[in-house]
This record gives sequence, structure tokens and C-alpha cells, in this order.
Amino acid sequence: MTEQQTYNAPTIEQEIDVISTYRLEEAASKVVPKGGFDYISGGSGKEFTLQRNDEAWLSKGILPRVLADVEHPDTSTKIFEHDLKVPFIMAPIAAHGLAHATKEAGTAKGISEFGGTIMSISAYSGATFEEIDAGLNGNPRWFQIYMSKDEEMNKNILDEAKADGATAIILTADATLSGNRERDLENKFVYPFGMPIVSRYLTGSGENMSLNNIYAQSKQKIEPADVKFIAEYSGLPVFVKGVQTPEDAVLAIGAGAAGIWVSNHGGRQLDNAPGSFEVLADISEAVAGRVPIVFDSGVRRGEHIFKALASGADIIALGRPVLFGLALGGWKGVKSVLEYFETDLKRVMQLAGTQTIEDVKHARLYDMKK
Ligand code: FNR
Ligand code: LAC
Repeated sequence: MTEQQTYNAPTIEQEIDVISTYRLEEAASKVVPKGGFDYISGGSGKEFTLQRNDEAWLSKGILPRVLADVEHPDTSTKIFEHDLKVPFIMAPIAAHGLAHATKEAGTAKGISEFGGTIMSISAYSGATFEEIDAGLNGNPRWFQIYMSKDEEMNKNILDEAKADGATAIILTADATLSGNRERDLENKFVYPFGMPIVSRYLTGSGENMSLNNIYAQSKQKIEPADVKFIAEYSGLPVFVKGVQTPEDAVLAIGAGAAGIWVSNHGGRQLDNAPGSFEVLADISEAVAGRVPIVFDSGVRRGEHIFKALASGADIIALGRPVLFGLALGGWKGVKSVLEYFETDLKRVMQLAGTQTIEDVKHARLYDMKK
């Protein structure tokens, strides 16, 4: 039997002691089958952008203000109609079943047990809306769509997402083709299970299919009219995810986007793109407060959340670290990771002399290149 046919995802459920999310990746590599781990952890090409996402944080420093009369920093914030207890949410990630046998339902339970944040559900989820909903227990969710080439199918999927209670749609625009995932090529990686939400527009269920194959069956020509279509048809706010230039942010807003999602897909798509944090400030200047900005790619510490908020992001999206938590502890591991980020952000806010998220958004960062 190949590894894919006997894919043994971790099943353990335990709280985990998160010293740093970088150490989680190392620990997860020991419990997640190699093909699944490399798919999760890997980037595209030389993994220049994956690495640059981490190095980018060094470009700006946090200036600690003292005598600031700060105690018990308040991490709460608001996005659209949602009052959040923290300024971070879960990024859309495919195939959580690679990290844990409870799949997206486990992640959802961890998010709902943590409370006060939002889960982004990927179209390439290995779980059904119903399974995820059981874990989310009424907590808010957004839906990320990879469009079908067939408009009626897209309407069906949007109807389902809306019926499931999605309060925003995320149109991922940077992945009309898979990045050159060399680790997956080497492992001959195919998904070991199906994708119930999009299986209707795939030639198969998604099981034993490569990402390249699945993307080729999705809509590959994404344009401003797609933003308009999704916004008008769903009646929901639409984020355009994968924006890395001010020009595209302006284009997306002009097409009806209600939010901009600055991201380079965690270095998994076009390699040799800059680090995501490097392009955030210019995009924020171009957006000029017209719509909210979600930021992801490379967020591993409270300092990163602080710097992204101070550089124009309204909300930060967490990716890989949540999946490593899932792998190491199931829903309890996910909750532990979210609690780590909450604690770490509060520590950074205290030491930087910022009481609220608004204070953080107005904090001046230091240009380390000076
Ligand atoms: C992703 N990402 C992603 N994005 C998306 O829009 N739809 C998807 O289905 C997926 N799937 C996916 C799978 C895996 C294993 C990873 C690691 C990432 C990208 C994700 O939303 C986010 O942009 C990155 O994860 C951010 O980078 P970091 O912080 O995780 O390194
Ligand atoms: C990935 C796709 C599924 O990054 O978004 O693997």
C-alpha cells in the first residue's frame, strides 16, 4: 500500500505547551506522515519567499514606550459585524485531515473552545460544512472559494456557504495554478482523501489527486468581474486574497471588494515574491482606510501581529502554526496555539506601552534599515 492509501494522521488530543510556534513545526514533523508534513510545511520553488516571510519581520522594529500607564492590554477588536477578543483569525487551509484524523472539525472545535475569533473554511476542506459546523458550535466563519469553471456550480457553492452561515467570502486570487511545490513532486503527493465541497466540479472526489490536477479543474482566469459576481450573487462582503501590490488593492476595491487580504499564500505560490510583511505598508497606504485589510504569511509570534497591525492590517490570519497545533493535540492543540498568540500579543503590547489595538495601529515602527 502507498503512504497515501494508508495515511495515518495523528489522533492524539491534548493541550500543548507552546514555547514558540517554530518549535511546533519541528515537533509536528515527527508525528505527521512525511507527504502530509511536507505539503503543509513546504513552499514553492527554492522556498525563497517562504523564508523571506520570516526574514521580513526584521525590517521594522517595535519602539518600546515607557511611562505609558499600561496594564492588562485589551486585544479586542471588530471586523464587520463581529466583535473579536483578539485581532487574529484562522486563515483558510485545505485538507486539515493531513494533520489530524478529526480534520477541519477538530480545528473548528479548538477555535470555538478558544472563542471570540473567526474560522476561514477552505473550499478544499476535507470535511463537510456539517462536520465543521458541529465543531464551530455557532462561532463565526468565512468561506474561501476556489471557483469552478461552471457559474451554476459557483452559485451552488456560494448558496451552501451562505446557508452554512458564512458572513464573508474570500476569493483567493493568487492560486489559479499551483506554485512549483518541489517537495510534493518528490513525494509524489496526492491528497489521501476527498474534498466534499468541491468534489462536484472535480472529475474525482479529490482523493488521490494532485493539487495541480485539482487547480486545473478550477477556474483559472480570475478577473475583477468575478469579484463583482460573488459580491452581487452572495450579498456578502468579499475579500480578495493574495494581493501583494497597491495596484491590485485598488483594482479589487474598484471591482467591489469589501476587504483586501494581503498574502503570498505562505510562500506556496509564486516564489521570489517579497516577504508578505514587506509589501503591507504600501498596500495599506493605497487602500487608505476604504476597506479592512487582513494580513497573513509568516506570522509566528505576538511581535509579528503587532508589527502587521502597526503597518496597516486590521486583522491577522494564522496559518501553519494552527495546523501544527492540530497535529500535536487535536482541538486542544489548536486552542493551545491560539492561547499562545493571545498571551504573546498581550506581553508585546504591555512592553511596547500600548493598551488597545487602536494604540497598536498608531504605534510608530522603527526602520531597521536606517
Ligand atoms: C494554505 N493556504 C490556502 N489558502 C487559500 O486561500 N485556500 C486554501 O485552501 C489554502 N490551503 C493551504 C494549505 C496549507 C497546508 C497551507 C500551509 C496554506 C494559504 C493560507 O491561507 C495562508 O495564506 C498561509 O498559510 C499563510 O502563511 P503561513 O503563515 O501559514 O506561513
Ligand atoms: C495550497 C492550496 C490548497 O496552498 O491553497 O496547498
